[in-house]
Amino acid sequence: MLLKPDTVQRGLVGTILSRFEAKGLKLVALKLRQFPRGHLEKHYEVHKARPFFDSLVSYMSSGPVVALALEGKDAIGVVRTMVGVTNSREAAPGTIRGDFGMSFSNNLVHASDGADTATFELGHWFGDAAEVCEWEPADLGWRYNIAEELA
Ligand code: CMP
Repeated sequence: MLLKPDTVQRGLVGTILSRFEAKGLKLVALKLRQFPRGHLEKHYEVHKARPFFDSLVSYMSSGPVVALALEGKDAIGVVRTMVGVTNSREAAPGTIRGDFGMSFSNNLVHASDGADTATFELGHWFGDAAEVCEWEPADLGWRYNIAEELA
């Protein structure tokens, strides 16, 4: 995931991150940095031909972003449900975009949309494997029914 420059500028990093932690997703990587245009162009390469590509890259490189990785059962779908639809004005109440945003383009967060994208994005944002922490929450057996859900 990315917490976009509007999230950082508006002081919403902790508020948004806490939703994923409280949900029970496991935080395995986290960094705050202003990234160069080239890095964002590669991240959004799939949108290269779209009319909004240049302004998207300008916005995303205009200030620090937080890159993070979460783990959990069905994590990609769970996160996308929590994030809401792309246009924040149409996002359902209770979702991150629905609760905190009014914009289509400045929509607070980016979340990988599938397993292949997640694999590419994880390598792109956390190229050094040591940046991704393998750990087990002490309360894992309370977050899940391990025998039924994690076998
Ligand atoms: P994201 O989930 O990061 O994926 C691509 C981003 O492009 C999207 O969130 C928006 O920030 C932006 N975006 C997508 N569609 C449009 C659009 N029609 N106009 C402006 N920005 C868009």
